[in-house]
Amino acid sequence: MQNNTEDIIKPDSSEGVLNEIIQSLSKSQKELSCKFFYDEQGSILFEQISELEEYYLTRSEISILNNNIENISDTVGEEALILELGSGSSRKIRILLDNFKRVAAYIPVDISREFLLQSAKKLGQEYENLKIIPIVADYTRPFTIPDFEMPFSRLVAYYPGSTIGNFTKDQARKFLKNISELCGPKSGLLIGIDLKKESEILEKAYNDGKGVTAEFNLNILKNMNSTFGTNFEINKWKHIAFYNEEHGRVEMHLQSLEEQSVRLNGTSITFKKDETIHTENSYKYSIEEFKDMIEPFYSLNNVWSDPGNKFAVCYFEAK
Ligand code: AVJ
Repeated sequence: MQNNTEDIIKPDSSEGVLNEIIQSLSKSQKELSCKFFYDEQGSILFEQISELEEYYLTRSEISILNNNIENISDTVGEEALILELGSGSSRKIRILLDNFKRVAAYIPVDISREFLLQSAKKLGQEYENLKIIPIVADYTRPFTIPDFEMPFSRLVAYYPGSTIGNFTKDQARKFLKNISELCGPKSGLLIGIDLKKESEILEKAYNDGKGVTAEFNLNILKNMNSTFGTNFEINKWKHIAFYNEEHGRVEMHLQSLEEQSVRLNGTSITFKKDETIHTENSYKYSIEEFKDMIEPFYSLNNVWSDPGNKFAVCYFEAK
């Protein structure tokens, strides 16, 4: 570890996770949390997704950052303390770090300890003068920012990638309320949001021609098997993704090709033929919708978008 990187360790609380999984597979619409996509293989597959022709999200967001970085930098201001929720966005954070003026420190928060510490170390080698304070934590649960003596002008939560879309609207509102309270009044929120658009474009983005998204979706079952000792047979499941207009979200499911049952720590779970496990929601917003949703605690300060209005990077200020 570089000496500009402090390692703040919070043990992974894996207790109860298995019960959580059994519960979610016992609902009438069975589900698995999309957080289980991201084992090592899943993270590699997501990297591949982000380079697919059909998956415009990552490309759009990066081009928005590159095309507007001076204005974004001026909006955020000098001496910002950047708190990144999830630290998978190596390319994006480098755009900010290369262009923001005198960043006070960078605090990546991520649940995956190895991944977090590795990328923090790498970043520390590239940015020798940058103070990096990685926090191993599930940022969707309450966590604290360690006390450190360091001057900064403004705490800015950075939440790229439209990851906010994985929460239901209720969860998203509560989550961002918590973040606004954690970071305090006048703190900033720089967030990437995938915008509402024709369902055809959305559905293509989650049903790519090469089948990488299918592999990514199916990998959740492999991860279950290796992490929790389940016995899912991967070839008995099929990837499905569609835009649910009513809820304004892309849903991903895994559909059972035949009647089958799976063992989970002594519990057996039966799936009918064609029954699905709901594995992900990816909510799409209009800027108005998003702004109204978090209006009680954040006010919109600035929006940057791509020429096709596919994606938006927004800057909010906590009230
Ligand atoms: C990383 C959550 C933004 O919802 O678009 C990509 C994950 N799922 N393809 C998304 C994902 C299927 C992605 N996020």
